[in-house]
Amino acid sequence: IDQAPFASEPHLNFSEPKPRTAFARAVKQHRSQTPREYPLFIDGQWIKTKKKLPSINPARPDEVVGQVYQAGKREVEKAFAAAQAALPVWRDTPFSKRAEILFKAADLARQKRLELAALQISEVGKAWAQADGDVTEAIDFLDYYAREAMRLGRGHGLVSPPGEKNTYFYQPRGIAVVIAPWNFPLAISMGMTSAALAAGNPVLYKPARDSQVVGAGLAEIFDQAGLPPGVLAYLPGPGSTVGRQMVDDPRTSLIAFTGSKEVGIEISQRAAQIQPGQRHMKKVIAELGGKNAIIVDSDADLDEAVAGICASAFGYQGQKCSACSRVLVLEENYKRFIDRLIPAAQSWVMGDPADPATDIGPMVDQAAQKKVLSYIELGKKEANLLWQSTPPKKGFYAPMAIFDQVPPESRLATEEIFGPVLSILKVKDMDEALFLALDVDYALTGGIYSRSPNNIERAIREFRVGNLYINRGVTGSMVGRQPFGGFALSGIGSKSGGPDYLIQFLEPRCVTENT
Ligand code: SER
Repeated sequence: IDQAPFASEPHLNFSEPKPRTAFARAVKQHRSQTPREYPLFIDGQWIKTKKKLPSINPARPDEVVGQVYQAGKREVEKAFAAAQAALPVWRDTPFSKRAEILFKAADLARQKRLELAALQISEVGKAWAQADGDVTEAIDFLDYYAREAMRLGRGHGLVSPPGEKNTYFYQPRGIAVVIAPWNFPLAISMGMTSAALAAGNPVLYKPARDSQVVGAGLAEIFDQAGLPPGVLAYLPGPGSTVGRQMVDDPRTSLIAFTGSKEVGIEISQRAAQIQPGQRHMKKVIAELGGKNAIIVDSDADLDEAVAGICASAFGYQGQKCSACSRVLVLEENYKRFIDRLIPAAQSWVMGDPADPATDIGPMVDQAAQKKVLSYIELGKKEANLLWQSTPPKKGFYAPMAIFDQVPPESRLATEEIFGPVLSILKVKDMDEALFLALDVDYALTGGIYSRSPNNIERAIREFRVGNLYINRGVTGSMVGRQPFGGFALSGIGSKSGGPDYLIQFLEPRCVTENT
């Protein structure tokens, strides 16, 4: 078993010919294949149902990426029964054995990394480096939580006076329901699922509608890694039926959810109801949205600030809960900043993510495209449109847009848009910047570009968000390096990829023996 300290999986360097050619081949190969069918995975079996739905490429909506069989009430029931039957064995499987399966899954993901990333280009419109980053993050979660399982498996030392032996150890909570988003389709699914599994909880996993094919890849990896039957179910289906059934079932002990604030709140409320026959309280871990701000100080390095803000606002089309959507610029730097920001944003190439020259691709689906377009229309009424790009006509593309003169209380400045729309607010001093930075429902990420040690110190103390970044962009947290997650209405539960995450999937027990 791997005892070396955790290290991140290196990203591919696409400026080198070998990875560039290999990845171009993987993307092309995936596109030229006849779309595969993806059955459900329940009790160690791949199962077809009566209903299947196409998953489509948002850059080319007439291209089908795969046909995905859909779960209904019966399949969810079957998955619960199998998980319940598997629970005693999986619970009593040693932590080290469960860690071994996670390490094996990491190796399998490494072997398939090109294929897994190529799939994301077609299914969710990620540009090359973003797709590669998602797969390496999934590998990191497996490697990290495997190590965490071994650490927690050792339990804790306790004071044991003569005549008394005290031990402290952990047991899993029970059946875990994982409801995942499409924006980090493998990484976040893998993070929540692997943590639950490493802790000994059987998992019912529901991928998001827009990334069900990538979700099937997760189930295939665990199937091949040797997970016992019943321990994992892959259940694509609608949140309004399948998701609710999974949350409401009295056999559910824990729900790990990443997604919108509205759905997270609904899950929390439903989970609080004790169902007939339920003898425990359900635990909810929810990672929700953000309306993240970056402060640009009067002495900021503008070259760095502009590059970091563009990457944070427009990377993956702004479809990250960590994305920057507000910039608070100290007035002394305002004009200089805008003069540099606009040409920098204009240099971003929007197009098909299959093309390595593409910086920014389509929105994930038509609803997301419409949402961005409606916020741009709203922004034209509430604020001043400084610039917007002209996107390709075919596909679910939305323009990049930059607004200024944005009133702090406007919808543009306070609501999560989840698209490439950036609001710039001019502030007179650091007091105002910090006040506005925190004057929203969320507290997920934040950033400051400054050369002033005092202002940096102040931001560390007062810019109360889950992940604060100083003189760099606010996206792209790395497992083990930037444990990720926020508070306020950005969610509940501790940071993924950090030392307090796995423990949430466990319950401590204390045994005292009179010796
Ligand atoms: N962890 C991601 C980021 O930091 C968001 O989920 O961008």
